Amino acid sequence: MEEWYSAIESAGDVEGLEEIRIAVFGKKGVLAAEFAKMKSAPNEQKSAIAKELNIHKGRLTKQLSERKNILQTLELERAMKAEAIDMTLYSPTSSSGALHPVMETMDRIVEYFSMMNFAVKTGPMIEDDFHNFEALNLPKYHPARDMQDTFYFKDEMLLRTHTSPVQIRTMLSHKPPIRMIAPGAVFRRDYDITHTPMFHQVEGLLVDEEGKVSFANLKYILEDFLKYMFGDVDVRFRPSFFPFTEPSAEVDISCIFCEGEGCRVCSKTGWLEVLGCGIVDENVFDAVGYENVSGYAFGLGVERFAMLIHRIGDLRSLFEGDIRLLEQFR
Ligand code: PHE
Repeated sequence: MEEWYSAIESAGDVEGLEEIRIAVFGKKGVLAAEFAKMKSAPNEQKSAIAKELNIHKGRLTKQLSERKNILQTLELERAMKAEAIDMTLYSPTSSSGALHPVMETMDRIVEYFSMMNFAVKTGPMIEDDFHNFEALNLPKYHPARDMQDTFYFKDEMLLRTHTSPVQIRTMLSHKPPIRMIAPGAVFRRDYDITHTPMFHQVEGLLVDEEGKVSFANLKYILEDFLKYMFGDVDVRFRPSFFPFTEPSAEVDISCIFCEGEGCRVCSKTGWLEVLGCGIVDENVFDAVGYENVSGYAFGLGVERFAMLIHRIGDLRSLFEGDIRLLEQFR
């Protein structure tokens, strides 16, 4: 019997060990043979032989399972070593990635306003009715809400339709003066050549003492900003409407494709609309409890900027993940 103990001990792998187990415990194995032999032994010896064989049976079982554990662990370690990937290995075929054109454009916008001392603020993408609409002078059932095709959840929660709620959050948590921008994703139920259900905006808000902030300040910074983004373009302000600003304006740049001559991109007008802005409405200040202040606000769509800068025809292509499009921006 002793040789089986050393056989188990020197088994090199799980398979070899299994062969030993069959040789010892199998139907035609040693133990079965020994028990069979016992039957022909003299009666008075039978119980002693059986006792001894059972002791062997128990010990061998235990030793087999211990050895099996050890061998399994060793085999796992070996497999892990063989399959390990060296992440630090240099591969001449790998290429470096690049920022997505939308993120790159967003960075450039943030860079400009950071230089101008605007703080960068963020807010939740799942907003409540108060921050997204109510506090921005868009009361329930006001027709101006229809301008935004909104994704609603239950209980007055929604995917924010613009970054303007970050204005409200910032004013509620900070005393004036305020000088902030809010970059981030926003959501509307639109899908066509110039709209995707998710897109990005950069919001801007400046608040200071009453009488200190004028439309002229707004005009100055936006003109400077648009020249930073698009080069030497003409800028024009057109009267418009937003519930949270009064007066409000939409801002156009002279068409960068035809330089104002009139082409397909600018619908023959010579102008491209790029952002909305205005003087903050008193009702907004009332909603956040601000008194004796004045301010301006603006908001722009980052994809629109990226499309113009990179001359991308279909906004939806920015989010299709087509490597052939993205590789052009490396
Ligand atoms: N929130 C407006 C929109 O999404 C943009 C805007 C922001 C206009 C701030 C004026 C002032 O259309």
